[in-house]
Amino acid sequence: MAFANAMNLLTSHGFSCDVTLEELVNWFDVQTAYPDLSLDQVLRKPLLIVHEIAELAEVKRMGLPIACDTILKNRSRVYEAHLRAFEVELALAKRVHDLAHIRERLREVENWTTDPLLPRRLRPRCRNLHAQAEEALKECHHLHSKDLRIRRAKREDWKPVLLIQQSDSVFPYLGRPSRPSKVRVRDRWLLRLAEPGVYTLVAVSGDEVVGYVRLKRGEGLGSHVGEISAVAVRPDFQRKGVGGRLMNEMFRVADDLGLRRLRLTVHSDNAVAIHLYESLGFEVEGREREAVRRGRKFIDLLIMGRLEPRP
Ligand SMILES: CC(C)(COP(=O)(O)OP(=O)(O)OC[C@H]1O[C@@H](n2cnc3c(N)ncnc32)[C@H](O)[C@@H]1OP(=O)(O)O)[C@@H](O)C(=O)NCCC(=O)NCCS
Repeated sequence: MAFANAMNLLTSHGFSCDVTLEELVNWFDVQTAYPDLSLDQVLRKPLLIVHEIAELAEVKRMGLPIACDTILKNRSRVYEAHLRAFEVELALAKRVHDLAHIRERLREVENWTTDPLLPRRLRPRCRNLHAQAEEALKECHHLHSKDLRIRRAKREDWKPVLLIQQSDSVFPYLGRPSRPSKVRVRDRWLLRLAEPGVYTLVAVSGDEVVGYVRLKRGEGLGSHVGEISAVAVRPDFQRKGVGGRLMNEMFRVADDLGLRRLRLTVHSDNAVAIHLYESLGFEVEGREREAVRRGRKFIDLLIMGRLEPRP
C-alpha cells in the first residue's frame, strides 16, 4: 500500500521509476557504511519511500548489480544515486508543500556536505542541494501565504469538508465517536449555511478547500458573544498556519458584527488547537472534567474565551 502510494506520487508528478516492491525490499538488505533507516521506518513516510525508489531506479539505470556489497563496492556511484534521489524527493516535497519534511531533511543534507565519505567530485552538487532545500523551505512558506485565500463558504464546499471531517486526525476532535457519514456532513453543512447568525469561512489553496471555521452569534443577553463552533484543517495542510489565518479572518467578521466576546470549547489533549487559541488571545476560563469520552479515555473539556479590547 505505502509502496503503491509512493509510486503513484512519483508517476502523478511525471517521474517514472522502474522498480518493484521486491527489489526495494532487497535494497534494504544491501550493506551500507552507515547505520541506515530500516524498511519499517521508511515505509511510514511517503517521501522517504519516494527517495528509496528513486535511488534504486538510478542505481539500476547506472547498470550496477543489486547484491549485498553493491554499496560498499560502488560507494561513489551510489552516493551519486542518493543525491539524485534527494533531488526527486525535494521536488515532490515542494509540490505537496511538505514543509515539515523539508525542514527535517535539511539538517541531514547539511551533514552530508561534511561527510568524509562524500566523494570530492560530488561536493559542489551536495552543497547546491543544501542551498536548494533551504530555498524550498522559504519558497514553501511564501507560496503558502500567497496561495491561500479565505472566502465565505458555499453550498458545494460540503464535498471537501466531508474529506476533512472524515480524516483520522480531525473527527475525534469534532465531538463525534465515529467518522461522520456523507449524508450527515452534507445535511449539516447545508443547514448551517442557511441558519441565521451562523457564519462559515473556508480556506482555499489553489482551487481546493483545505479548511473551514464557523462562528455562531449569540442571542438575547448574549448577542455580543460569538461561539467558534468548529474549526478544522485538512491533515496535509495542518500546522502550516491555515488554522491561524482562518481564525484571524473570523475575528474580522466578529468585529463587523460588533461582537465583544468569543468563546469555544476544546479537548484538553488537543495541544495544537490549544496552542493556536492561546497564541490568538484566548484564555482558559473553565474546565469540565471528564466531559468527553473517547474510546476508554475520559477527557476534560476546556472552555476558552477572548475579549475584544475595549476602545
Ligand atoms: C486545530 C487546527 C484547526 C489548527 O489548524 P492548523 O492549521 O493546524 O494550525 P496553525 O498551523 O495555524 O497553528 C498551529 C500552532 O500549533 C503549534 N504546534 C504544532 N505542533 C504542536 C504541538 N505538538 N503542541 C503544541 N503546539 C503545536 C504550531 O507551531 C502553530 O503555532 P505557531 O503558529 O505559534 O507556530 C488543526 O490542526 C485541525 O484541524 N486539527 C484537527 C481538528 C481540531 O482539532 N479542531 C479543533 C477543535 S477545537
